Amino acid sequence: MTELIQEIKEKQNITLEQLKQILGEKDQEKIQQLHEAAACTAEEIYGKNIFIRGLIEFTNYCKNDCFYCGIRRSNRNADRYRLSKEEILACCKNGYELGFRTFVLQGGEDPYFTDDVICDIVSDIRKEYPDCAITLSIGEKEKESYQRYYEAGANRYLLRHETADDCHYQILHPKELSLEHRKQCLRDLKEIGYQVGCGFMVGSPGQTPETLFEDLQFIKELEPHMVGIGPFIPQQDTPFAGKTAGTLEETLKLLSIIRLIHPHVLLPSTTALGTIHPLGREKGIQAGANVVMPNLSPVAVREKYKLYDNKICTGDEAAECRYCMQKRMESIGYQVVVDRGDYR
Ligand code: 5AD
Ligand code: FES
Repeated sequence: MTELIQEIKEKQNITLEQLKQILGEKDQEKIQQLHEAAACTAEEIYGKNIFIRGLIEFTNYCKNDCFYCGIRRSNRNADRYRLSKEEILACCKNGYELGFRTFVLQGGEDPYFTDDVICDIVSDIRKEYPDCAITLSIGEKEKESYQRYYEAGANRYLLRHETADDCHYQILHPKELSLEHRKQCLRDLKEIGYQVGCGFMVGSPGQTPETLFEDLQFIKELEPHMVGIGPFIPQQDTPFAGKTAGTLEETLKLLSIIRLIHPHVLLPSTTALGTIHPLGREKGIQAGANVVMPNLSPVAVREKYKLYDNKICTGDEAAECRYCMQKRMESIGYQVVVDRGDYR
């Protein structure tokens, strides 16, 4: 294992055979070596600093119908909401006071938020917080729309590719959605100048070592600044209600691999990881992640942004999550920093 880790780290690449070997590895000591090598790599670049992003879930309306997602349009049980611009700005104000220097505006693909509405919100945040990064995570749009948001002041965009395998993509999505279009969006975003994040769920139905290998190859090709991965967790009102969740162990292995082959990448230890294990986010950091994304959404709507079941932190105020996160990071020897947390 030591030689294998060394080789992956040196080549900053992995073969399908090597990936299969790691995914199949059961020896805890060897797995621990992998995580330590990845955490060490992160430390060489970012030190023991953890970047925080304030997540504002501003709408759970969505015109799409992804089979895994709790806010898909066919879910009649979803209690829909939208935040007003004033509410979003209030989240930013609260977040700024708590030391956040990145705001992530995430939502379903909600036609109510036209390009004009998004640009109006983004430019107001930009005016008020010139020292902050604004990240959008609002799905697939035309290149012209992405261009307009960028000109209004957005700097980063998160759009998980979900899987880089065509057949797997069709298992996860209705036929009106295509991997080709998703990839085109990511290329458009990069061309415009955004810091871009792609990513995927670990253990989603139909995922295999082969599709994961394609994910890793796609990430190599795209060279994103961020990679968001977390376990798939079934949501009771979706077609995938009865499927099994992704595991902590597999997610941690993939975090480590991604860190080793992309040493500089911004890699969040996700809320989904914290949902499947009480110390999931800490373990993610210890496996090579360097970002956490506490929630800034008003408590009144938290419960409603349910992409998956049992999501944590739905009852906690932003300040509680912020300090809880700080304590959690300090407990493993890391510190949360007041910083935009740009790609280095
Ligand atoms: N389990 C885990 N992650 C999910 N996402 C959506 N639904 C689920 C689920 N059931 C992830 C997707 C999406 C991101 C915002 O949340 O990868 O891109
Ligand atoms: Fe939300 Fe701990 S991070 S309560």
